[in-house]
Amino acid sequence: MDTKIFYFSGTGNSLAVARDLASNIKGKVELVNIAKEIKKDKIEIKEGCIGIIYPVYFEGTPLIVSRFIDKIQANNGSYFFGIATYGGMAAGAIRHLSNKFKSRGLKLSSGFVIQMPGNYTPMYDVKSNDFQEKVFAKEKEKIAKIANIVNKREEHHLEKGSFVTNLIFTKIGHNIKSPKFPNQDKHFSSDEKCSSCGTCIKICPVNNIKLENGKPEWQHNCEQCFACFHWCPEKAIQCGSKTAKRGRYHHPEIELKDMLIKK
Ligand SMILES: Cc1cc2nc3c(=O)[nH]c(=O)nc-3n(C[C@H](O)[C@H](O)[C@H](O)COP(=O)(O)O)c2cc1C
Ligand code: SF4
Ligand code: SF4
Repeated sequence: MDTKIFYFSGTGNSLAVARDLASNIKGKVELVNIAKEIKKDKIEIKEGCIGIIYPVYFEGTPLIVSRFIDKIQANNGSYFFGIATYGGMAAGAIRHLSNKFKSRGLKLSSGFVIQMPGNYTPMYDVKSNDFQEKVFAKEKEKIAKIANIVNKREEHHLEKGSFVTNLIFTKIGHNIKSPKFPNQDKHFSSDEKCSSCGTCIKICPVNNIKLENGKPEWQHNCEQCFACFHWCPEKAIQCGSKTAKRGRYHHPEIELKDMLIKK
């Protein structure tokens, strides 16, 4: 039974987790970017071992991941597992994914959360190198445990978060905020450092940026992945008043070429 891992990633954390897991999985493993796969009308999944790896957005699943699951054509002959990467609190992100699976008549057999450096820079600055090294070391340990479970196709308890955090942050908080995600790009702007290089256009997973007179304009179909913000080589994209003084982040093992959607 081959393994296929579908991932979504803005700053490379979830891609790095997908790669680390792939190197611990027995047999053939294929990594597939959800941002590319979602362009298909139907996503047919043959029986196998299927993983979905994604970042937590406001204690829930990214909208693009939910749309991806809506398009899946599969049956329960597959072993499905999920991994949510998060910065500080995953709350009910895996419960959210599991419920999405249930709504399609599918079952998530195991689901895990992995802490990585947070990338929501409007709220906090980039984490120190020391912090990053500690979470990366823990991530590698957890990946080894997850690989052991996935290799055995084990039914495992889902890391669903407590009832209270799920209720407050995921069921109420995420469900109020997520319909507003597409329009939250209204908070992005580019400053005088913009060199019109076009990287933000090529990295956006949903083609949400156009250059007008050499400057990016956001089209209000945003996933809130923050790829444009973090990968701009000039640090010219701001989001609110605090980010001009803050750093930019991407996972140290992931390069721009690994993330580009358009050539
Ligand atoms: C819009 C947005 C919302 C986020 N919300 C949360 C959150 O609710 N809880 C959390 O722990 N981390 C949150 N994060 C941090 C990311 O989940 C975390 O950094 C993740 O590993 C990023 O993965 P990526 O590099 O694959 O995009 C958020 C990040 C963004 C951009
Ligand atoms: S990536 Fe940055 S510098 Fe390049 S076009 Fe976009 S905003 Fe301008
Ligand atoms: S506009 Fe920026 S934050 Fe929004 S989906 Fe595109 S790359 Fe991600």
